[in-house]
Amino acid sequence: MLRASAPAKIILSGEHAVVHGYPALAVPFSTLRATVTAEPDKNFSIVFSDHSGEPLSASDTENPLVTLAHSLGRTTQRPLPARKFIIRSDIPVASGLGSGASLATALARSILLNMDQQISDEKLNSLIYEVEKVFHGNPSGIDNTVIVYEKPVYFIRNHPMQLLSVPVPFHLLIADTGVKAPTFESVGDVGRLLERDTQTTTTILTRIGHIVQEIREKIEAGMPAQIGALMNENHALLRELTVSSSALDSLVDAALNAGALGAKLSGGGRGGNMIALVTPDTSQDVELALQSAGAVRIWHTLIGNESAL
Ligand code: MEV
Repeated sequence: MLRASAPAKIILSGEHAVVHGYPALAVPFSTLRATVTAEPDKNFSIVFSDHSGEPLSASDTENPLVTLAHSLGRTTQRPLPARKFIIRSDIPVASGLGSGASLATALARSILLNMDQQISDEKLNSLIYEVEKVFHGNPSGIDNTVIVYEKPVYFIRNHPMQLLSVPVPFHLLIADTGVKAPTFESVGDVGRLLERDTQTTTTILTRIGHIVQEIREKIEAGMPAQIGALMNENHALLRELTVSSSALDSLVDAALNAGALGAKLSGGGRGGNMIALVTPDTSQDVELALQSAGAVRIWHTLIGNESAL
């Protein structure tokens, strides 16, 4: 059976600021994936294996996934395949891990496979960005980029993405508050904060941009253990932007008290996930502390060496 998939993503630093033109760093989280399989059928349709959404047909043109399918048909000049596309995803929704962009990417790849067609990653990325606009309102494009290319990226809105090199892999724990928080709300609120209190908000966003540069330099210089303090500062600034939450702050505090080198929320915030920089020595203590502090799910990943997982 033809199967296509796409990863989740983790924002290392720069979320929210990236919407307003500052840089950000993101990495694929390849162990969590959206997967799409296709079964022969009379017509084109899209269904969700967990029944989380209504089955979709080619005439549901107001749905962004169906719009995506038609765009692929136009791009390749092929009719939509008579298949039932079945979407499965391990990625928690509205949790800062890129679930929407991931399932759209997996679906697009599956439709292309079933049309026996290929398009460039660049073209696919621009089509997934259109879907993101419907899901998120004002997305920077970082989620679709890191997910489509499945590589660590340094990203500035409306600029070609640059790859982030990670010569020395580092360990992250990712912990889910279990609180679903739609990104478009927190992105909208930060936009309003920027309009209302332009000077203070611009100072915060500018500092986040500098933190991203410093984190990039340390990672690329093979000194990832030194990004911890910068992650903590980034989290404090995201709190000032009002996008943290008591659940996220509790997990960040618990991770730091248990020996994490740094911790911050990741993604849209207000809920969803946080990340903690750990070492093989501290990983277990930090994981236990995150569990006690209420994390509903915890994953471990080695950034920069996905093949070793
Ligand atoms: C969401 O993963 C990251 C945000 O910066 C939104 C965006 O960049 O589109 C919060």
